[in-house]
Amino acid sequence: MTETTPNIAFTPERMAKVQEIIARYPAGKQKSALLPILHVAQAQWGWLSDKVMDYVAGILEIAPVEVYEVATFYTMYHLQPVGKHVIEYCRTGPCCTMGAEPVYEYIQEKLGIKTGQTTPDGNFTLKEVECLAACGWGPVFQIREQYYMNLTNDKVDEIIADLSK
Ligand code: FES
Repeated sequence: MTETTPNIAFTPERMAKVQEIIARYPAGKQKSALLPILHVAQAQWGWLSDKVMDYVAGILEIAPVEVYEVATFYTMYHLQPVGKHVIEYCRTGPCCTMGAEPVYEYIQEKLGIKTGQTTPDGNFTLKEVECLAACGWGPVFQIREQYYMNLTNDKVDEIIADLSK
């Protein structure tokens, strides 16, 4: 195992988790552990900088570009610093037919930011994502593991107020 990126290191607890994930896969197939390890990395650093992705590549003994191509494909990985709460809003067709677009416009207006931006107080980041597999309960957004469904402007007001406390 190589860990050559200076000043970047998992905590001992997270490194133990990383080793446990790697051990799930046969020898030589450690690249299969990439997605869950990127989640561990994002939990520690909040987002995936180039240095963090290089560090993960070193642990898995794969080329950094193999990490970049995965991290840039999936919207759940943050490639720039994000706010305390990342609102991942579904803009896929079924949610749009359930009224997602006007609610999304309302969220942007309420927070004063557009997709990909973070509020000046660092509290909220807004991201558009593909289907969250909750199509029957749209409009939907996700913040970490929590889903917020059947969204309306009033519900958005309640959620934002609650998370702003
Ligand atoms: Fe929005 Fe599936 S289309 S959750």
